Amino acid sequence: MAIISSKDAHSSPPSLLTATALPDEEQDRIPSQPGERPIRPQHLEDYVGQQELKDLLTIAIAAAQSRQAALDHLLLYGPPGLGKTSLALIIAAELGVRCHVTTAPALERPRDVAGLLVSLHPREVLFVDEIHRLPKVTEEILYPAMEDFRLDITIGKGQAARIRSVTLPKFTLVGATTRIGALSSPLRDRFGFVQHLRFYHETELCQIVHRSALCLQVPIDDPGALAIARRSRGTPRIANRLLRRVRDYAEVKGTGAVTGAIAEAALELFQVDPKGLDWIDRKMLGVMIEKFRGGPVGLDTLAAATGEDAQTIEEVYEPYLLQIGYLQRTPRGRMATPAAWKHLGFAAQMPLISLQE
Ligand SMILES: Nc1ncnc2c1ncn2[C@@H]1O[C@H](COP(=O)(O)OP(=O)(O)OP(=O)(O)O)[C@@H](O)[C@H]1O
Ligand SMILES: [Mg+2]
Repeated sequence: MAIISSKDAHSSPPSLLTATALPDEEQDRIPSQPGERPIRPQHLEDYVGQQELKDLLTIAIAAAQSRQAALDHLLLYGPPGLGKTSLALIIAAELGVRCHVTTAPALERPRDVAGLLVSLHPREVLFVDEIHRLPKVTEEILYPAMEDFRLDITIGKGQAARIRSVTLPKFTLVGATTRIGALSSPLRDRFGFVQHLRFYHETELCQIVHRSALCLQVPIDDPGALAIARRSRGTPRIANRLLRRVRDYAEVKGTGAVTGAIAEAALELFQVDPKGLDWIDRKMLGVMIEKFRGGPVGLDTLAAATGEDAQTIEEVYEPYLLQIGYLQRTPRGRMATPAAWKHLGFAAQMPLISLQE
């Protein structure tokens, strides 16, 4: 079962701190060397953090299992790399059913989605990634399929057209999106659960790094894991990527073990910012400070001034900067906080009044 994914091509070159998957990371489930275990968690107990969501799913899965019924449809949303695909695969594994994985752009024609729906067996999971990108025609086929487990097929054209209904087995649709706002409300309303994935805390990321190190058979100590966790932008995918790079460094420059000193040295060599800031974050904050005296500055102005896409800024970059308190959203626009000024090496924020004089 291949994971098909065709993310929007990013306008900037990918860096180690990019949250979207790099081409060689799409198949995180498959170990790259003999003896390694897959890094992608396979069961709910291996899935670190997101405790409320896990509690809710544990109950829902147990209830569905005891009734031998299909789990309610579930929509997962949140920034890239936080574990939406992993969770969908885990849900299917916990239910003991197959997970059919697809992505919205692959469902361009009505017959693509119809073909998938008729191939489902009772209680199976259909995972649709990037569900906000479903074409309207495909989306409309999903409405009766999700609500009444019915597939309506139009046969013929014009006046002779007839609708034939086919009964589908009760299945679970798991949708994932980084853009909940782009989903139409009829589609959103058909999900029994709509759940948000949040950024991970440092301690959770440390746990993820330790677990991944075990899978990769890399010895690591707590300071080593912490150094990686701190720079991971609250995102497990980045934590795993940094771990792999640090592992290479440890093998070449050290004994193979990842210690605090080795991790710090490797990450400095790879020019990973100590706070996990990407060069685009730095550019954005730098422009805000240098050209707009820290703001407030509107999203479109910021996009034009940095040459980045407004939507990407809003969905990919801003959430983390807001989370670590480097950015503030005000009614008049975005503002860089004093912590951001300090981190970027600018003198303390100057009061606006003195600059206007
Ligand atoms: N809670 C977690 N515990 C342990 N590892 C995790 C967790 N969440 C994610 N990961 C790791 O991070 C990687 C990326 O996760 P995943 O592909 O599920 O993210 P995603 O939310 O689907 O991202 P995208 O929006 O780009 O599709 C996984 O391969 C997995 O190894
Ligand atoms: Mg995914």
